[in-house]
Amino acid sequence: MVGIFSLITGLPGPSGFGSASTAEQVTEGIDASNLTAIITGGASGIGAETARVLALRGAHVIIAARNMDAANEAKNLILESNPAARIDLLKLDLCSLKSVRAFANSFIAMNLPLNILINNAGVMFCPYQLTEDGIEMHFATNHLGHFLLTNLLLDKMKSTAKATGIEGRIVNLSSIAHLHTYEEGIRFDKLNEQDGYSDKKAYGQSKLANILHASELSRRLQEDGANITVNSVHPGLIMTNLMRHSMNLMRILMVFTYLFWKNVPQGASTTCYVALHPSLKGVTGKYLLDCNLMAPSRVARDKIIAKKLWDFSEKLVQLTR
Ligand SMILES: NC(=O)c1ccc[n+]([C@@H]2O[C@H](COP(=O)([O-])OP(=O)(O)OC[C@H]3O[C@@H](n4cnc5c(N)ncnc54)[C@H](OP(=O)(O)O)[C@@H]3O)[C@@H](O)[C@H]2O)c1
Ligand SMILES: *[C@@H]1O[C@H](CO)[C@@H](O)[C@H](O)[C@H]1NC(C)=O
Ligand SMILES: *[C@@H]1O[C@H](CO)[C@@H](O)[C@H](O)[C@H]1NC(C)=O
Ligand SMILES: *[C@@H]1O[C@H](CO)[C@@H](O)[C@H](O)[C@H]1NC(C)=O
Repeated sequence: MVGIFSLITGLPGPSGFGSASTAEQVTEGIDASNLTAIITGGASGIGAETARVLALRGAHVIIAARNMDAANEAKNLILESNPAARIDLLKLDLCSLKSVRAFANSFIAMNLPLNILINNAGVMFCPYQLTEDGIEMHFATNHLGHFLLTNLLLDKMKSTAKATGIEGRIVNLSSIAHLHTYEEGIRFDKLNEQDGYSDKKAYGQSKLANILHASELSRRLQEDGANITVNSVHPGLIMTNLMRHSMNLMRILMVFTYLFWKNVPQGASTTCYVALHPSLKGVTGKYLLDCNLMAPSRVARDKIIAKKLWDFSEKLVQLTR
């Protein structure tokens, strides 16, 4: 209830920030000029705003996008307001495991450090569809592609953290929609079946997978003694291209819930806060909303399912290598 109250009023929570805070406000005064960040889906929506604000704080930003025209446009827009911004573009199609591997190879060949990885790209409410790897579209794009990407970049992040003494951070864009998934949480035994498919639940399932993945990775990194944190965030409700498959539904929803909607600068605030803010030093395996810690659903906190999803995902990315 406190969450809903502060969402409507915009009053800050314990962190000092709330739903009305923008990405610029929550990173005020932070110097990120020694940091390199990758943002998936950084060509539009929340990702593009995240790229702009991280670059404004001095970070070297790599926008990973499948649509290079849109990425170029995003880059030019950022440069217009901030000619000193350091932005590179690199092609990445998350629903193709082959493209994810090619991206990781290209990035590693650039010989840059990697301090921050923001797994932001996502699709929502697509009609039933399998990817070229034979995997359900939401699960493939929102979870599996990022799972492989994160694993391929992990050594780079570990070596950067070690060499620089700066804590690495992985931020996963999840969603409150993780509450609305299939009865069994993750449909391990019928992930790709059309029978019983629901576009809403498939999205919820993939967003649940994001939290479970962050939680299990966080555990593994702590076990390894790596100085890298992993957290997931719900950005809020923001009108973006994400709604392309559900415009009418969203318009109707907005009539009843307009008090809950945020603009894009507010939508990028939790991501930027988790990526840069010093008060989150050492905080890992957590879920945040409006720049404050929140408990995710019961199944999202289930360590056994998190481990099961990890093993399941590992098998899937190897099988289709
Ligand atoms: N907006 C909200 O209310 C809301 C709420 C909860 C969670 N989120 C999460 O926030 C994240 C960002 O969403 P947004 O609202 O900013 O939506 P958006 O404007 O549609 O941004 C998503 C980005 O992901 C990219 N993308 C999609 N599929 C991709 C693929 N296969 N490979 C590479 N990039 C791909 C899109 O590129 P294309 O243009 O090429 O498709 C787009 O740039 C998502 O993970 C979403 O689930 C958003
Ligand atoms: C960036 O790195 C340089 C060289 O290591 C260091 O002198 C400087 O203090 C760092 N800046 C910040 C903001 O950490
Ligand atoms: C979330 O983080 C994990 C790392 O734990 C990563 O492998 C996974 O694919 C990420 N998913 C997204 C998009 O949040
Ligand atoms: C991790 O990095 C932070 C600086 O960002 C540093 O203060 C901390 O001591 C490091 N922790 C470990 C375990 O190396």
